[in-house]
Amino acid sequence: MIVACALGIVALAAASVPPPTSVNWARLLFWIVITAAAAALPVKLPGGVNASMTTAPLLATAFDSSLPQPFAILWVAVIGTIEPRDIRREIVWYGSIYNKLSYALAAYAGWLAIVVLAPIEGGPIRTALQIVAGGTAFMFVNVTLAVLAASARTGQPVGRVFALSVRNVGVGLVSQVPLGWLMAEIAQKVGEWATLLFIAPLLLARCSFTKYTELRELFFGSVSALSQAIDAKDGSTRGHADRVSRIAGAIAREMGLSEREIERIELGALLHDIGKIGVEDRILLKPARLEADEKALMQRHSIYGAAILEPSAALRPLVPLVRHHHESYDGSGYPDGLKGEEIPLGSRVIIVADAYEAMTSDRIYREAPGHDRAMEQLRKYSGIQFDPKVVRTLGQVIQKRGAAAFEQSDLPPIGYETLAELRRRLAHDSTDADPAHSG
Ligand SMILES: [Fe+2]
Repeated sequence: MIVACALGIVALAAASVPPPTSVNWARLLFWIVITAAAAALPVKLPGGVNASMTTAPLLATAFDSSLPQPFAILWVAVIGTIEPRDIRREIVWYGSIYNKLSYALAAYAGWLAIVVLAPIEGGPIRTALQIVAGGTAFMFVNVTLAVLAASARTGQPVGRVFALSVRNVGVGLVSQVPLGWLMAEIAQKVGEWATLLFIAPLLLARCSFTKYTELRELFFGSVSALSQAIDAKDGSTRGHADRVSRIAGAIAREMGLSEREIERIELGALLHDIGKIGVEDRILLKPARLEADEKALMQRHSIYGAAILEPSAALRPLVPLVRHHHESYDGSGYPDGLKGEEIPLGSRVIIVADAYEAMTSDRIYREAPGHDRAMEQLRKYSGIQFDPKVVRTLGQVIQKRGAAAFEQSDLPPIGYETLAELRRRLAHDSTDADPAHSG
């Protein structure tokens, strides 16, 4: 990041000393104003990257042949991308400087690609190549520097930030590239006023960013609510699903799975016990070992869970993970007695994470035996109940991050009263109630 800042400053100095002799200041100011207007409405994407509509006006500046380059593109990128957040000091000063210099470098890269291709003969082909190359160079530098900064700020891996922030809004970002060229053409051939016609398509691109962010928040909010409903029903496992999800996600990441698969496993882990909603309270809340018939009823929760998720298109990919989260590696588990690799990988990860979490947190029927004992048990039943590869990976994760690695939570603290607690309180209140005032 320091290298990026240094490069940006060197590029600015090289382009500005000595200053260009003739500058169309009105046109330069025009692009600064348009870029600033586009920068004023950023959308914060889930991975921590802010998406804005500055790509189009910046590329328009790079395509504007009436301006001295790279002087114009560098200064429009630095001044035009000053956002209200920068002025209100909501971003630390060095973050603001990094953002502006990142834009300068991205815009410079885009302009360089356009210039390199300028000598090519054959109008439309050259223009098409310039749009593609200029857009690619701009986006590559812009996205890379933004993702690196968001990763450093949030502590999330680079791959995850990219997957959350950029992958799903790619169309909205790329669609601005040809708009940039068109804006420059219209400004030069028709007049600057005509670029106002681009407000609508740019707002449409912004709309795709906000819709994606809102949909994702809605989806995760619903999954989180469902997960907390299980916690609320079974007071003894408060926060259990959240911790299992965290452990399972860390194992999946250590195994080198794709971000999409990691997310599926995390969601599956959050909802793995959703079927407990269908288990009678006298069994679910029994503070002693279950009888054989009760155990059989309890074991149905993985089938119930799969049935609950099945009707939802968004949750359907989690169905196999939830259905098979009690299968054993040697085939002695339930409900289908799957064996080894027949068990979905996500389920094999959740099984280990679930067991580790259960053994390291307090339960109603026994004291937590602690991390070392938990790992000892996992290794003992490795190849019998658990996938040896998954157990080994959990060991590696803990070796790297320590046993306390999963205690941090991104979820809001659980401050609600669980159903079990509510029942106890109501039962207590009704015994204490003054009969004279009852009814
Ligand atoms: Fe379960």
